[in-house]
Amino acid sequence: MSAAPAGRPPFVALAAQHGTPLWVTDGDAVRARLRELRGAFAGLLDEVHYSVKANSSLALLRLLAAEGAGFDVVSGGELERCRRIGVDPGRIVFAGVGKSDAELAAGLDLKIGLFDVESSEELDRLGALAAARGVVARFALRLNPDVEAGTHEYVTTGTKRNKFGLPFEEALAALRQTAGNRALDFRGFHVHIGSQIGDPGCFAAAAVIVADHVRAARFAGFAVELLNFGGGFAVAYDSPAPLIAAIAAAVRPLLEPLRVRLLLEPGRWLVAEAGSLLCRVLAVKETPEKTFAIVDAAMNDLLRPALYGAWHPVELLLPAGESRPTATVDVVGPICESGDFLAKERVLPCPRAGDLLLIGVAGAYGTSMSSQYNSRPRAPEVLIDGGRARLVRRRETMDDLLATELEPD
Ligand code: LLP
Repeated sequence: MSAAPAGRPPFVALAAQHGTPLWVTDGDAVRARLRELRGAFAGLLDEVHYSVKANSSLALLRLLAAEGAGFDVVSGGELERCRRIGVDPGRIVFAGVGKSDAELAAGLDLKIGLFDVESSEELDRLGALAAARGVVARFALRLNPDVEAGTHEYVTTGTKRNKFGLPFEEALAALRQTAGNRALDFRGFHVHIGSQIGDPGCFAAAAVIVADHVRAARFAGFAVELLNFGGGFAVAYDSPAPLIAAIAAAVRPLLEPLRVRLLLEPGRWLVAEAGSLLCRVLAVKETPEKTFAIVDAAMNDLLRPALYGAWHPVELLLPAGESRPTATVDVVGPICESGDFLAKERVLPCPRAGDLLLIGVAGAYGTSMSSQYNSRPRAPEVLIDGGRARLVRRRETMDDLLATELEPD
């Protein structure tokens, strides 16, 4: 454990101590975000379920559990992570468009708080599995409100083009069909229209529709106790993001009159800005058209630029007092694809081999989407907690990479 001054994590010292590439997550910043979220939705919000997929490190999950957060999981693997940290299962919500029998059973056996069910077929299976165990499954139905989220096509989830959720009429039909099933306990609705949504109006549009559905379901005789309004709040990458208070203000007048128990399940908003990826410049390469800074992190570490064309801030960490002329640089990794870039056409101080570079706003969907492509061991992670830095994930070794592969007899 090394002491860190309040404020910015000691990136240079951490890179020297642990090597690069290296993830650094500022847990104190995550705590501050959780407080801000709760403040913005005060009086309306019942529980926050952190979306584990954004960064599923056990250490981060423990930190959030200690703050009273619950968890939104989407696989048996994420459920197991929550089980390992010993969180109260009542604070776990299990979402996802394709849950296997084994995953549903694991959730039932753990007695989790809620299943977000996405089809009548899934509801039937959940009912049968619960009945076989003699337990009752609490569930919400995920609605597809058919609203645009104004975000990247790949992370838009609430339109008719998408695989997620049910149109309201189908949800109602599923409820009618299972109304007498004692193994199923309908609690309310779930909606999640996408990720990195920068327009509060999109949340309001979803809230208008879902509020109508809550009223219609009640009119049809179903008690709607809770509404899981999902996540998707944007953070600032290349453009400013709305204040969380503005999003809360946009939906409050629509959701408050419903008198439901409101759940939220943000991932990115809680952790993105708290995370950085540190890497070192291996070489600088000039072509007639480009200056490439080839760094030791790559698309296997941070996939978002390659997959979504995502923009992350980049900063060259020069020793104090040093200044250099600038150049327009593409920051690329060592992987054998031209899609392996972390940033394009950035004006930076002229990079040199050995320089330390920081990729910012990398705390969400960074480590959790990293792979071993090109047989590259995954990078370690440091968590800052109470101003102190601790290695919470060691660097993978080649033995880790090869551990699952079987030799011929
Ligand atoms: N709830 C559900 C049902 C979700 O599918 C998601 C994210 C969340 C909550 C959390 O959304 P957030 O608050 O983090 O926006 N890999 C992409 C993001 C994929 C989001 C998938 N679902 C990226 O790197 O931008």
